[in-house]
Amino acid sequence: MSVLNVSRLKVSYPSRDGVFDVVRGLSFELDEADSLGIAGESGSGKSQTALAIMGLLPDNARVSGSIRLDGQELLGESEQDLDRLRGKSLAMVFQDPLSALNPYMTVGRQIGEVLELHQGMSAKEAARRSCELLQMTGIDEPGRRSKAYPHQFSGGQRQRILIAMALACGPRLLIADEPTTALDVTVQKKILELLRSLCQEIGTALILISHDLAVLSGMCRNLMIMYAGMEMERGLSEQVLLQATHPYTAALLRTLEDLHGGAGPLSVIPGEPPDMRNPPGGCPFHPRCTEVMPHCSEVIPRPRPVKRIAGAQSQWVACHLEPEQ
Ligand SMILES: Nc1ncnc2c1ncn2[C@@H]1O[C@H](COP(=O)(O)OP(=O)(O)OP(=O)(O)O)[C@@H](O)[C@H]1O
Ligand SMILES: [Mg+2]
Repeated sequence: MSVLNVSRLKVSYPSRDGVFDVVRGLSFELDEADSLGIAGESGSGKSQTALAIMGLLPDNARVSGSIRLDGQELLGESEQDLDRLRGKSLAMVFQDPLSALNPYMTVGRQIGEVLELHQGMSAKEAARRSCELLQMTGIDEPGRRSKAYPHQFSGGQRQRILIAMALACGPRLLIADEPTTALDVTVQKKILELLRSLCQEIGTALILISHDLAVLSGMCRNLMIMYAGMEMERGLSEQVLLQATHPYTAALLRTLEDLHGGAGPLSVIPGEPPDMRNPPGGCPFHPRCTEVMPHCSEVIPRPRPVKRIAGAQSQWVACHLEPEQ
């Protein structure tokens, strides 16, 4: 059974002009110790999806569909039950570690509190385990450093501390939303590799959210490309990269090739992502799509499987184009 099963997830907000949707019928699954990278331009609904799974959306958000963790439905759970799950079975690492840490409490205490609350450890046991966790995430001299406050660490070290906290209880699922955007490239790579290897060791399923398709594909076994709150393409990372089927994925990949190839001017996808209060009808990408056909503006394409390599997992694509076999 999959650890996470998301089905027809929808997130909406009320506005003066009526209700508008920011996540529109998303479905995917994730197995134990497996990893999924979610990419897409700004505003495509990546963070809203993450927050919906964590039960951390604002009060005015309306959520429907189903989110099951080890078979247990999370939508509709009480705040108290969700609190119990968060930190224990469900954990999240945010972009800005400083705002996620308490500035007035030593980092050892902060990790210790999680262990006391969710694992029932004594303060002494928790302090010992906190040091082990800090060591595991690459903080030197953990005994001494556990007594330091968040501002006494570098940005990269703070992110390591958050990872230690998130993995303290061996969660079933960890969601990292742009966890390294604020860090320089070499630190970024080390932290992401740490995250991946620890998740694999513990058996935690990982969702990694980033704008950077190259980073995601190197880190995650599966990739999902989102646009305007919908899934455009999903499959094994290598398949999606080598045989991108959706014109949006192909366009994203072209921007990467230009970035890393260094030849010619940087290609950007012409046009802007839609305003979710008033998205275009049919396929949301059709106004920017180079392959657009007449019915693309009328009918929303639903994700359908595209069988690529015999025996391999299917690739899903939401496009009216018939893929080349
Ligand atoms: N509290 C809210 N009320 C209304 N709309 C919201 C709210 N929070 C987010 N949105 C809208 O939901 C859409 C999806 O936002 P989301 O933050 O999930 O995008 P994202 O893919 O994470 O983008 P980025 O890459 O910039 O982080 C956006 O159009 C955003 O304006
Ligand atoms: Mg976001």
